[in-house]
Amino acid sequence: MNGSKIIVALDYADSTSALNLVNQLDSSLCKLKVGKELFTAAGPLLVEKLIAKNFQVFLDLKFHDIPNTVAKACKAASDLGVWMLNVHASGGLEMMQASKQAVDNSLNQPLLIAVTVLTSMNEVQFTRIGIEGSLENHVIRLAKLTKEAGLDGVVCSAGETFKLREELGSDFCLVTPGIRPEKVSLDDQKRVASPSIAIRQGSSYLVIGRPITQATHPIKVLMAINQEIQSASNS
Ligand code: C5P
Repeated sequence: MNGSKIIVALDYADSTSALNLVNQLDSSLCKLKVGKELFTAAGPLLVEKLIAKNFQVFLDLKFHDIPNTVAKACKAASDLGVWMLNVHASGGLEMMQASKQAVDNSLNQPLLIAVTVLTSMNEVQFTRIGIEGSLENHVIRLAKLTKEAGLDGVVCSAGETFKLREELGSDFCLVTPGIRPEKVSLDDQKRVASPSIAIRQGSSYLVIGRPITQATHPIKVLMAINQEIQSASNS
C-alpha cells in the first residue's frame, strides 16, 4: 500500500497497452484508475493482474441502476479486490445506501465514492434534462446526499473543491481530475488546475492521465508531481 495522492488514469483500449505503461510505473508512487473502455475490453482479469503487481485500483465504472442491481455490482467489484469504486449520486439515497452496505459487507471494504454532475455538462445541457436551479447548487446537493448515504466522498472538478471541502468537512474524500502540471498540454480539458493548487484547495486524490501516460519518461513525471504534492501539503 502507498500514500501517494496520484491516481494514474489508464485510458487504453486494451490490456497490452495498459500493461506496457504500468510496467514503467512504481506501485509505491501512484494508484491506477481503470475506466469503462479498458474494463469492457480487458475485464476483471486485467484488474486482478494490476492488484497482483501491488497497485491499488480505482474501478471507475460509475454504476447507475436500481438499488439491488448497483449493490450487487458493487459487491462484485469489492470481491475483485479494488481499492476504490464509484456510483452516480443521482441514482438516489436508497441506491447509494444499498451500495454502501454491500461494500461494507465485503471482505475487502473499498472506498465508495459518487459522481455528482458530470463535468462535461454545462448550464444549458443541465436545463435541457429538466433540472432547475444552478448547476453548482445541484453539485452541492448531491454531494450532501452522498455524505448522508454514508459514502466516502465524491469526484469533483478542481473548481468545486474549495466549496465542497467547506460544506462537507475534512474527512470527506474529494477526487479531482482535470489536473495539468504547469507547462504541459491541456489536451481536451478546459477547466484545469495544477497539482499543487488542487491539493491546497482541498483535493484528497488527483486523477492524472495524459501528462503521465503520454510522457517520454512517465516515472520521472510521476516523481516530479509527487514532489510537488509533498511540497504543497507541507506549505
Ligand atoms: O488525460 P487526462 O488527465 O485528461 O485524464 C483524466 C481522466 O479523468 C480521464 O480518465 C477522464 O475520463 C477522467 N475524468 C475527467 N473529468 C471528469 C471525470 C473523469 O477528466 N469530470
